[in-house]
Amino acid sequence: MSTERVPLEAIDHLEYFVGNAFQAAHFYRTMFGFNIVAHSGLTTGRRGQSSYLVEQGKVRFLLTSALSPDCPVARHCALHGDGVHSVAFRVNNVEETINAVKANGATVVKPLTTWQDSFGELHFAAIKTYGDTVHTFIDRSDYKGVFAPKYELVESPKTESAGLLAVDHVVGNVELGAMGHWADYYARVLGFTQLAHFTDKDISTEYTALMSKVMQSDNGVIKFPINEPAEGRKKSQIDEYLDFYRGPGVQHVAMTTGDIIATVKRLRASGIEFLYVPDAYYDELVSRIGKIDEDLAELKKWGVLVDRDDDGYLLQIFTKPVEDRPTLFYEIIQRKGSRGFGVGNFKALFVSIEEEQRRRGTL
Ligand code: FE2
Repeated sequence: MSTERVPLEAIDHLEYFVGNAFQAAHFYRTMFGFNIVAHSGLTTGRRGQSSYLVEQGKVRFLLTSALSPDCPVARHCALHGDGVHSVAFRVNNVEETINAVKANGATVVKPLTTWQDSFGELHFAAIKTYGDTVHTFIDRSDYKGVFAPKYELVESPKTESAGLLAVDHVVGNVELGAMGHWADYYARVLGFTQLAHFTDKDISTEYTALMSKVMQSDNGVIKFPINEPAEGRKKSQIDEYLDFYRGPGVQHVAMTTGDIIATVKRLRASGIEFLYVPDAYYDELVSRIGKIDEDLAELKKWGVLVDRDDDGYLLQIFTKPVEDRPTLFYEIIQRKGSRGFGVGNFKALFVSIEEEQRRRGTL
């Protein structure tokens, strides 16, 4: 366990390193219903990188691309394709936080840094986690400007929201044998506790398997499942990810909605593709999960999955990868009491993912 307490308030934002932030911002706007709210780049006095901040509810994605080939962002994209580089946490004192995580054994990749302009000071620092992924700590209490110094507001026409409210969890894929190490890391460095442990008995099909440990912050706000591949007859989706991402990284980001049917309608209308759910899944659904508020025919029509545990139930759906490489995808989740992750759906999902892998020739 960690020796120094590390109070994290919430996820501040996720930063993606992408090939073309300008175009990526429009993808998230058109396809997912985010508003483009801020920009930083050549016109704001930043020379090496260009970033767009997109926002929906409390979800904030910072999309960053390189302006020259020797920029670390360019190297990240060449190696991994577009992907999540940083999961940033809001804290109330960056100096105390970075000292605490250092004492707990973290590798610091960005020491305490302060950016300032006429709107105040923004303090941040970062540590390494799996692969080339980092965690940034940000203190916004002394800053009153737009997102950060050298950012300006973007006057973009408002788009139709998809009703996404907040980041529910962020899932990492790591190599075979590394899951325990990273679960321990979150416990030791950030004081996270283990919420759940799924073995290959929970998550396997005839062909493939994976294992997962879910770590969460002590305030319960931040949840990070960590997956590793398990021995199967064929290559698992985790192995496929590790091959194409060239190492560990963020596999999916789950976002909450208050009305999953409305959200899925909006996303499908804009062209988002979801994993296929066989009709047979719905035949046995009622006997598995009992009575729910939603109309089963509607759920089936839109391909929404349901799972129940002692606390209640949840509705969820998974997109296909949103990259050319079969790496990052999204989950949309509506919680109705359940604090779980849909373990009852893992098998149906896996069969569906294997079908996609077969189409890609990677199974
Ligand atoms: Fe998930």
